[in-house]
Amino acid sequence: DPVATPDISTCGPADLPPSANVLTCCPPPSNALPVAFDTPDAASSPLRTRPAAHSVTADYVAKFNAGIAAMKALPAGDPRSFAAQASVHCAYCDGSYSPDGFPGMELQVHNSWLFFPFHRCYLYFFERILGSLIGDPTFGIPFWNWDAPDGMRMPAMYTDQSSQLFDPRRDGRHAPPKLIDLDYNGRESRFTDSQQIDHNLRVMYRQMVSLSPTPSLFFGSAYRAGDDPNQGPGAVENIPHGPVHIWSGDPNQPASEDMGNFYSAGNDPLFYAHHANIDRMWSVWKGLDARRHTDITDPDWLDASFLFYDETPKLVRIRVRDVLDTDRLRYRYQDVPLPWRTARP
Ligand code: C2O
Repeated sequence: DPVATPDISTCGPADLPPSANVLTCCPPPSNALPVAFDTPDAASSPLRTRPAAHSVTADYVAKFNAGIAAMKALPAGDPRSFAAQASVHCAYCDGSYSPDGFPGMELQVHNSWLFFPFHRCYLYFFERILGSLIGDPTFGIPFWNWDAPDGMRMPAMYTDQSSQLFDPRRDGRHAPPKLIDLDYNGRESRFTDSQQIDHNLRVMYRQMVSLSPTPSLFFGSAYRAGDDPNQGPGAVENIPHGPVHIWSGDPNQPASEDMGNFYSAGNDPLFYAHHANIDRMWSVWKGLDARRHTDITDPDWLDASFLFYDETPKLVRIRVRDVLDTDRLRYRYQDVPLPWRTARP
């Protein structure tokens, strides 16, 4: 059977590291039962385009800042607040829930085939909330284009200390102009810039092409209700998803906060840009080989479901099958080159 998020009133304490500054990650309670997700109507819902973070205008940055500021200004008890949104990640990653029908087991959205769809849903509602707070239903959140040379630095808008997008809990050595290492394992590489770029492109080819020939290798192992969590990540969840987190978080914090730990990662606005690029990789991967790169057809994947608050804010149950096509969710990614496509290792 599919993993389903239970009634949120069953949300319990999280497995937090001793350094955590929160006690719980549970969302604010809902006074109504969740409603089933309704696919937006294509005729009346504008299409959002998510831009590459390094390529946006000053106007865009100002708008995005205003949106994050508005989320941060809401009280934590409001499910649309930045704090409540950040805790969503913690709740689904640090054991606050048990799959419906399996009390006592941990619901974990990483290290399995739930990774891509869970994070797609999470960003989708985050973006709707942000857009509604700035009165712009066409606003698309940025993606950190770390798979192309121009995007291989921490995007500038996140590193301005006076910005809402800044987070002091990052690795100070990795501020621009430092190039990211998509294979980062905690040790600084000794590459020159051009070697690092070349290496990163080969890492992308390796993870997206060589190691992802089938849906199960790309998405990760099956994880059904009653299974132990962490059945096994897909190639891209493993690398570069993990290394980008570790590279960004502060190694001098007790648990590599913020980006370097599940419970705290959502506190860094950079998280959402990182995950927008991960989400983009799902679409890119499907486009690389229309015949073999397909979504999983197992109903235990398609009917897995999660709970999120939308911008109104009402509690919504959304299934994996609702989010396979980003056009149906009314967003797209800015079309940018894929220089790693020819970077066979
Ligand atoms: Cu839910 Cu990038 O981790």
